[in-house]
Amino acid sequence: MNKIFFFLGKGGVGKTTLSASLAYYLREKNKTVYWASIDPAHNIYDLLSLPASPKVQKIEAGLWVEEIDVDRYLRRFLEHIQEKAQKVYQYLQILNLDKMFKVIKYTPAMEEYACLYALKEVFKKHEDKDYLIIDTPPTGLMLRIFSLPFVTELWLKELRHWREEILKRRQIVAHIKHVDFGPGAQLEFSKDKVFNELNAQQKDMQYLKDVFTNPKKTFLILVINPDKLSLLEGKRIVETLNKFGIPIKIVLLNKTGHSMELKELNFFNDLPQKKIPLFEGPFPKQVLLKIASLWVEDAYL
Ligand SMILES: Nc1ncnc2c1ncn2[C@@H]1O[C@H](COP(=O)(O)OP(=O)(O)OP(=O)(O)O)[C@@H](O)[C@H]1O
Ligand SMILES: [Mg+2]
Repeated sequence: MNKIFFFLGKGGVGKTTLSASLAYYLREKNKTVYWASIDPAHNIYDLLSLPASPKVQKIEAGLWVEEIDVDRYLRRFLEHIQEKAQKVYQYLQILNLDKMFKVIKYTPAMEEYACLYALKEVFKKHEDKDYLIIDTPPTGLMLRIFSLPFVTELWLKELRHWREEILKRRQIVAHIKHVDFGPGAQLEFSKDKVFNELNAQQKDMQYLKDVFTNPKKTFLILVINPDKLSLLEGKRIVETLNKFGIPIKIVLLNKTGHSMELKELNFFNDLPQKKIPLFEGPFPKQVLLKIASLWVEDAYL
């Protein structure tokens, strides 16, 4: 079983820098690493001084990076929905995706679902790597992504219930009146396309929930800075993830300097913590490895 690291925290706290430090550290230990960002405003390639590319890039032996193109996943997600809907509801006229894409893109939760499905694909596609490192988008979006499998599962439970009720009633009517419900309409649960689709989605959500909540597989690293706003946002992250039973592995108090008297820091007292001082940039590989030596423990490996 490989391991997945997520770096979370307010904008600018050092998520990309610290995820880079982990990626290089793991390579030094001869582990294979896939390091990606799902932040729509990526900056991994900036840090590595690489030109932007939508593809997975091998930056050295055993180390691959990708700035995941969320729009591409969103389009594929919508195409997938369209294809399924056309198969399941053959009688429905489905909207022209190309025309609708620009609008649908901004529909609530679409970006979150696209990111979630991107993560699912990435987890499966890179199962052969020892470690997956994920640099995350802004907090609000990431917390909604983490919460989606839990929320979606509740919806699916309800929908399955209603589909079951519909099928039961169809069976009764067919039994009494010998009504033909038309081509494609099934009376048996196991042959009903809608019921099977709901089951398939339920399986995906269960898989993602298992990944997110497995403390032996998934490590969430919260990056904070000694400033009030980043600490308050960090607190919100811990509280929200607690509700879903997703634990924080470690809190990295990055860019620590002289003023550490903030009362907001007390909230993190019960969580494992490491301090990383202010470094003078730039951040070439050697500096990143030095940063990693301050916080990465072999216990994570
Ligand atoms: N320990 C440190 N000492 C000094 N500068 C640092 C340290 N960690 C990060 N930085 C600098 O802080 C800035 C923001 O870091 P980084 O890009 O890693 O943050 P981020 O959380 O990924 O930001 P964003 O949310 O915008 O993606 C960069 O200029 C980086 O070089
Ligand atoms: Mg970043």
